[in-house]
Amino acid sequence: MEYGKNIVWHHSQISRSHREALNGHRSVILWFTGLSGAGKSTLAHAVEARLHQRSCRTFVLDGDNIRHGLSKDLGFEDADRRENIRRIAEVAKLMLEAGNITLTAFISPFRLERELARCTVAEGDFIEIYCNCDLTVCEQRDVKGLYRKARLGEIAHFTGISSPYEPPENPEIVVDTDQMSIEECLAHIITCKKWAFCLPFQSYQKP
Ligand code: ADX
Repeated sequence: MEYGKNIVWHHSQISRSHREALNGHRSVILWFTGLSGAGKSTLAHAVEARLHQRSCRTFVLDGDNIRHGLSKDLGFEDADRRENIRRIAEVAKLMLEAGNITLTAFISPFRLERELARCTVAEGDFIEIYCNCDLTVCEQRDVKGLYRKARLGEIAHFTGISSPYEPPENPEIVVDTDQMSIEECLAHIITCKKWAFCLPFQSYQKP
């Protein structure tokens, strides 16, 4: 069924650039990817706190939280993960249009889906941040006790154990979270020139 053919796009009077000008900064998607326990959520929330201090409008879309609501019908088989990431990419795109600096913290294990998410928006709007952490370190940390359960066979399709993780080939930012402290990773992300254009700018006249 081709549902889309009777649906017409309604254009808003207020554009993304109006919202950005009102906010005093550009919007962007900061897409964190990496194994469970690699530090995606920790870093996304730490970056958000820094940006908030600088009066930026921000929002974190976090894997575990989204799976309580928007993706509560999805599991962890490949097709479900693909659908999860497709939904998140669409939500992140809406947040981008709304003028927010949007941070996403999902394992997002497949290259193809991350590339599709990138292609949902214009070039420069998507900054991929690879939280690179050795599996053994993630497993030692085992903050949620899930690696132990996965090793015992109590959780199926667990990323890194019984489901693959495909590292990014060309991410804008890499943080080695098994080598660097949270503060070091944070400084590296915040000072990265690749998205510095998003930080606060001058005053604005409403249309
Ligand atoms: S993704 O693969 O679809 O991007 P997502 O980031 O939403 O995954 O969810 C990952 C979180 O779900 C993990 O941090 C972990 O807490 C939990 N989880 C539960 N089961 C699994 C599993 N089989 N594989 C990976 N993470 C799981």
